[in-house]
Amino acid sequence: MFSGFPLFPERASTVAGEVDALYFFLVGLSAFFALLIAGMVLFFAIRYRRRSPSERPQAVHGSLALELTWTLIPLGIVVFIFIWSAQVFFGMSRVPKNPMEINVVGKRWMWKVQHLTGQREINELHIPVGVPVKLTLTSEDVIHSFYVPAFRVKKDALPGRYAATWFQATKPGRYHLFCAEYCGTKHSGMIGWVTAMEPAEFQAWLAGGAPGVVPAVAGERLFHELNCVTCHQADAGARGPDLAGLFGSTVRLQGGGTVVADELYIRESIVTPTAKVVEGYQPIMPTFTGMVSEDQILSLLAYIQSLKAPETKAAPPPAAGALDPKAQDVTKP
Ligand code: CUA
Repeated sequence: MFSGFPLFPERASTVAGEVDALYFFLVGLSAFFALLIAGMVLFFAIRYRRRSPSERPQAVHGSLALELTWTLIPLGIVVFIFIWSAQVFFGMSRVPKNPMEINVVGKRWMWKVQHLTGQREINELHIPVGVPVKLTLTSEDVIHSFYVPAFRVKKDALPGRYAATWFQATKPGRYHLFCAEYCGTKHSGMIGWVTAMEPAEFQAWLAGGAPGVVPAVAGERLFHELNCVTCHQADAGARGPDLAGLFGSTVRLQGGGTVVADELYIRESIVTPTAKVVEGYQPIMPTFTGMVSEDQILSLLAYIQSLKAPETKAAPPPAAGALDPKAQDVTKP
């Protein structure tokens, strides 16, 4: 209904309708009460005005019924709003099963996109319609925010963290992409386009153009170039823990305690290796802060995620802890 109205963005994702319904409800509700209160102020000012200098108003006494009314009605309304918006929020936060995964790195002042099939884009994002797309967002420097109004999607990209968001485009088109967090001089120029295409067209787009290197393969290459491989080996007596089957497992740490090996833990272990040392190993790994870009860390992550635990090998003591059931879900190339 607002497709021709320039102040309102198009609806091009599965959640757009729900977000708009809630938005219009809130605007309507606020308008209703604003008019009601303004009208009553005016009405009472006239109806109960002082008619003669000798007129004295009657003293006002409390009324339980009145107080309950103006407490319970607003309470009901805000609880209704809370339940409705929580439902919308959870729907937007829970990533559906088997999404198409794309990595996005914000950097002053551009968006760097990496498809798991190897394609890379800058300030452009090509996606198929009708497929849930999960974005893993991070930042190379300061906080940015990935904002596509037509999809009603906005998520901060934070340095040193991984944030996930998802959307499913409903119709083909070119949609504006903005940075919605002030990030410096050219913040306003940190814009781009999301192109939603029919799945067949998208496959053709993937096939054309320079095929990049699949992140897991790029990660493996880096693993050798950075000499990670010299310490992280499967042999007993290796200086670093074997990384096969690491992702999603529970790791025992030096000095007690455990940690689940998720994206953030692995990232931390690359940039600040001494933060959490695996039980039975020395804190001898050098830091890679400043030596690897966020892009490269994402590639290393993809590689480490692709390393499955060998079937028959006796598990080394650190990995003997209960395997996180989520580890079985990980289907990365
Ligand atoms: Cu990036 Cu504003």
